[in-house]
Amino acid sequence: MIEQIQQIDEATNTVTINSEKELEAFRLEYLSQKGKLNTLFENFKALSGDQKRDIGKPLNLLKAKLENIYQQHKLLFTEKTGFHDFFDTTLPVSAEHKGSLHPLTIVENRLCEIFFSLGFDIATGPEIEDDNHNFGALNFAEDHPARDMQDTFFTAEHVLRTHTSSVQVREMEKRIPPIRLVMPGRVYRNEAVSSRSNCFFHQIEGLYIDRGVTFADLKKTLYYFVQQFFGPGTQVRFRASYFPFTEPSAEMDIWAGTETEDARRLTKGTGWLEVLGCGMVHPNVLKASNIDSKEYSAFAFGLGIDRIALLKYGIGDIRDLFLNDIRLLSQFRGL
Ligand code: PHE
Repeated sequence: MIEQIQQIDEATNTVTINSEKELEAFRLEYLSQKGKLNTLFENFKALSGDQKRDIGKPLNLLKAKLENIYQQHKLLFTEKTGFHDFFDTTLPVSAEHKGSLHPLTIVENRLCEIFFSLGFDIATGPEIEDDNHNFGALNFAEDHPARDMQDTFFTAEHVLRTHTSSVQVREMEKRIPPIRLVMPGRVYRNEAVSSRSNCFFHQIEGLYIDRGVTFADLKKTLYYFVQQFFGPGTQVRFRASYFPFTEPSAEMDIWAGTETEDARRLTKGTGWLEVLGCGMVHPNVLKASNIDSKEYSAFAFGLGIDRIALLKYGIGDIRDLFLNDIRLLSQFRGL
């Protein structure tokens, strides 16, 4: 009997089943009531206890193997017929129902691409943060107003991150310099909602830590991004500013113009649109993440994606981006 089992085993090692008809022939030969497997099981019943012990295992293995072959082919054929019944793959795609990327995703991808081409890697971090990563390690004093209930959404023990600078801290903890990263993500602030600002928005954080990094490197990097993204000749201005985690600090505006009504509203009539905060990373911030601030210096920036998208696409109201209205959102194509 063991020989018969081996015979069937070998015969089915290279079995080819190319149609449902051949599959049925396979079933009839091996798995049906009068098939070879059943005959073996009939014979098995008549064996003595000792013999059963020797034969039982190979016989059951053979059974499993044959059933497996059958099931796999069956699936193959039914899936095939099912698919072809329902979908005619030769029909042209309907242009009307083609999906599209959200304008913010398009802008974010393009921004990351520009910095990636300068050698910046991409990292992300959590939206629900602890106080230390959002504030403490970034040199915010205990009584800094940004920790105030007015600005920050709190949960029992956490905050919704108010900026992507928290990801800087997480990455500095994990890496050793040189570090060159951009970190895109959503941030939250408890602010009055208007056409220009929302209670959540999106930023791309940039961080470059190395020996001898200067403010000139920061400006050059940002100029490059502006020319790449908005086109050559785009005007930029820096204004001195303050952030606890950078010193010196600045904000950068780009010239949006005063010609269109959207541009006037977006810029409150000035023509200048604030798009990012930046500066040289404060030594206390490097120290908090165990980076030697005597050996290394760093620049950082935090860019608001939503405003850039409004300007780039001429969208008049930031809230329109989140109405989930496909008629609006599907109009935007790649940059
Ligand atoms: N985190 C700051 C903000 O959200 C922006 C910023 C990032 C400023 C990095 C300086 C350096 O306003």
